[in-house]
Amino acid sequence: MSQPSGPVQHSGAPLRLGIAGLGTVGIGVVKIVQRHADLLAARTGRPIAITAICARDRTKNRDADLSGYAWEDSAVALAQRPDIDIFVEVMGGHEGAARASLEAAIANGKDVVTANKALLAHHGQALALAAESAGRIIRFEAAVAGGIPVIKVLTEGLAGNRLRRVMGVMNGTCNYILTRMESAGLPYDQVFEEARQLGYLEADPNLDVGGIDAGHKLALLAAIAFGTKVSFDDVELEGIGRISIDDIRRAGDMGYKIKLLGVAQLTGRGLEQRMTPCLVPANSPFGALQGGTNMVVLEGDSVGQIVLRGPGAGEGPTASAVMSDVIEIARGTRLSTFGQPAASLATPIAAKANAPAPYYLRLELLDKPGALAKVATVLGDEGISIDRMRQYGHENTSAPVLIVTHKTTRDAITHAISRLPGTSVVQGEPVAIRIEEV
Ligand SMILES: NC(=O)c1ccc[n+]([C@@H]2O[C@H](COP(=O)([O-])OP(=O)(O)OC[C@H]3O[C@@H](n4cnc5c(N)ncnc54)[C@H](OP(=O)(O)O)[C@@H]3O)[C@@H](O)[C@H]2O)c1
Repeated sequence: MSQPSGPVQHSGAPLRLGIAGLGTVGIGVVKIVQRHADLLAARTGRPIAITAICARDRTKNRDADLSGYAWEDSAVALAQRPDIDIFVEVMGGHEGAARASLEAAIANGKDVVTANKALLAHHGQALALAAESAGRIIRFEAAVAGGIPVIKVLTEGLAGNRLRRVMGVMNGTCNYILTRMESAGLPYDQVFEEARQLGYLEADPNLDVGGIDAGHKLALLAAIAFGTKVSFDDVELEGIGRISIDDIRRAGDMGYKIKLLGVAQLTGRGLEQRMTPCLVPANSPFGALQGGTNMVVLEGDSVGQIVLRGPGAGEGPTASAVMSDVIEIARGTRLSTFGQPAASLATPIAAKANAPAPYYLRLELLDKPGALAKVATVLGDEGISIDRMRQYGHENTSAPVLIVTHKTTRDAITHAISRLPGTSVVQGEPVAIRIEEV
């Protein structure tokens, strides 16, 4: 059998990119286009070329040869250029230049590829409607879980399933902080500072440790999974700032790890979306996840459970995801932004309460006779039954007690906790963390 040799000839017209943003992701995209020109052309049947680029500072040294590309100072001007087919937005921010340039690109007949989860979490529905009515498309593989091709798996690979649940550890910085606290036995504040010095945190760290960035990603996955309009405002958000090294250790004693876990599911109570610290079994896929790696678990009625794991950030992985969208467009595949026409997405009704779950409770119990019985009575009064319990030796006048409950509601737990000071046997603020069955 003969092997192809020499440069492949391609009949298709070049697909011309305009790249707005030349930071980590943008330069990664430039490098792939330059390094893999032949491979990209072979896979799409047409050359992929960069026509024009844009960033804030033209004089910055950017670790790539950009001399062959036209420069624009304004992202909107770039989006309006007649010599680009795809507008690649890799600047960030959910207003300002990112939003204005995406709107300009659509109005000027360009398809759009973006890595910007914040923009789509806030304006995804309006942008998708605008794109579809203009006959253009918006793809955003890089916006969720970096190098993991979760958007394509959900939109294409699982399109024949009714999705039951979507879960993800999708902020590498939070997972790094939690696993580092555990492995080095260090408190949150110290590891947070380490992460800052390593450059792992966003300029506004609350986007990471407050769960906002991961919440944006969850809202986008939920829209595709459940055919609902993106509703980031309905995502219950709680960051990792209150997780103590004590809880990490104690949860470990009970066979769990603590993760910032996103869960979205559509139930009879409505759409539940939460990005909160949860306990997961140490021997589960999420429990075994270390450092900055991301993981997404998708559950469909026919397929069962799919586990995707990989790098959630960084130049190579994110640019790989951006290029997968560019290639999809080059091949002529034209998918709706959220997997079905934006006008057909349902308005979600946010679930008022989360599905019942077991909870982990940590209390400081005073060294008094009958103390444990008093706590058990309060829990029993609230309909909370105890699955497992562990009491540690007294440290001065109190002893830590860990309780794993059977399934109960957050309301019952909150109510029980509010009553515990009245027993006069509990010292300090009890800690309650949901245990997710994964
Ligand atoms: N980094 C990751 O691992 C990763 C992963 C997934 C998704 N993302 C998303 O990808 C996007 C880009 O992230 P990044 O890490 O590459 O950011 P970055 O390194 O900070 O780069 C941002 C780039 O955008 C340019 N820029 C910012 N505002 C601009 C404006 N108003 N007009 C023109 N250019 C502007 C900057 O120009 P100057 O260089 O001149 O300042 C810079 O080149 C964000 O939406 C981010 O959430 C990033």
